[in-house]
Amino acid sequence: MKALVLSGGTGSRLRPFTYSTAKQLLPVANKPVLRHCLEKIRETGVSEVGIIVGDHGDQIRAAIGDGADLGLEITYIRQQAPLGLAHCIAIAAGFLGDENFVMYLGDNILADGIVAAAETFRASGCDATVLVAGVPDPRAYGVAELDADGRILRLVEKPPEPKSDLAVIGVYFFTAAIHRSVAAIRPSGRGELEITDAIQHLLDSGGTVLAEKYQGYWQDTGRPEDLLDCNRELLARLGPRIDGEIDAETSVEGSVVIEAGAKVIRSRLVGPLVVGAGSVISDSAIGPGVAVGRECVVSGAGVTDSILLEGAAVDSVPALRHSIIGRWAKLSAADGTRPSRLIVGDHAQAEVAT
Ligand code: DAU
Repeated sequence: MKALVLSGGTGSRLRPFTYSTAKQLLPVANKPVLRHCLEKIRETGVSEVGIIVGDHGDQIRAAIGDGADLGLEITYIRQQAPLGLAHCIAIAAGFLGDENFVMYLGDNILADGIVAAAETFRASGCDATVLVAGVPDPRAYGVAELDADGRILRLVEKPPEPKSDLAVIGVYFFTAAIHRSVAAIRPSGRGELEITDAIQHLLDSGGTVLAEKYQGYWQDTGRPEDLLDCNRELLARLGPRIDGEIDAETSVEGSVVIEAGAKVIRSRLVGPLVVGAGSVISDSAIGPGVAVGRECVVSGAGVTDSILLEGAAVDSVPALRHSIIGRWAKLSAADGTRPSRLIVGDHAQAEVAT
C-alpha cells in the first residue's frame, strides 16, 4: 500500500497565517500538523508517500524533506491550482500505479492513529473504506448515509440538509478501482473534482464502499479554534520532559515539556504545556494548554490555552487566552496613558480588553 497526503489548497479560514505558511505546517503541540499525519501513516507500515503541494510547496519540502527521518520515502507532486480532492488522485496516478493507497488530508489530525482502520481495509476485500465520525453539525463536511451493515449507500459533499450525522473524516482507503471513477466525474458547482462524487460513482458502478467509524480523537484543523482544540488534546498526551533550564523561583505543576536551550525564570508553569528550544520565559504564568514555539520571548505575561509560533514576543500582557500569535509577532502592553496601538495583518482577528 502507498499513501497520498493532500497538502495543497488555500487555507483561507486560517488567514493571516496562511498568507505566509501552508496551513499543514501550522504547529500543534509544537509539531506541524503534516508531520503528525506522516507519523500516523508510518505506523501502518506504509513507507512510500506522495505529498500533493500547491503554492507553499517549497516551504513544505524544506520542512519535511525526503522523509528519511520519519522512515518514509516522499515524492512531492505539484498541483497547479486547488481543483479538488479527486483532482489530487488524478495527478498522482503515475505515482500510485495500480496499488492500494490511503489518502490522508494533510490538515486532519487523527490522534489515535489509523492502524486498526488500515487492517480492516486490508482484510475486507472492499473497493474503498472511508473513515466517518458523528458530528453535531455535519453541514461543513462530506456526509455518509449507511445501510444496516455499515455499507455506504450515498455520500453528499456539504449538504445544506444532511441525512445523517456521519461526517467523512480525512482518511480514505482505496483500491485502484477509484481511478476509473475519478476519470468519469465532472467538476461540481464549486468547480472542484469532488472525492465524494468519485466515491458515489464507484458505488453506482457496483463497487463496495465500507464506512469505518473512527473511535479516537479527530479534528480538521481548518479554523483557529480547531487548532487550539487539537493543541490542548495533543499537549495532554505529551509526557513531561525538562531538557532546558528552570530556575529555583519557578514552580511547575502538571505535565511540562521544556526543550533543550529554553530558559524559564521566576515563573509559574501549569501543564500541559511545551516551551520550544531557544525561548525565554520570565516573570510569567504559562498554561495550561500552551505551546510556545522556538525562539519566543515571554516576559511579565499570563498565557493560557494558546499557540505562540516561532519568534513571537509577549511582554507585560497579563491575560492572554485562546490566542494564536504569528511568527516574530510582538505583543506588549500600552503604558495606560496612551491609547492602544495595533499593527494587525490582513484578515487577522484581535479582541482588545477594555
Ligand atoms: O475534514 C474532512 C472534510 O475534508 C470532508 O468531510 C470533506 O468531504 C472533504 O471534501 C474535505 O473538506 P474541506 O472543505 O475541509 O477540504 P479542504 O479544502 O480543507 O481540503 C482538505 C485538504 O486537502 C487540505 O489539506 C488541503 C488539501 N487540498 C484541497 C483541495 C481542494 C489539496 O491538496 N488540493 C485541493 O485541490
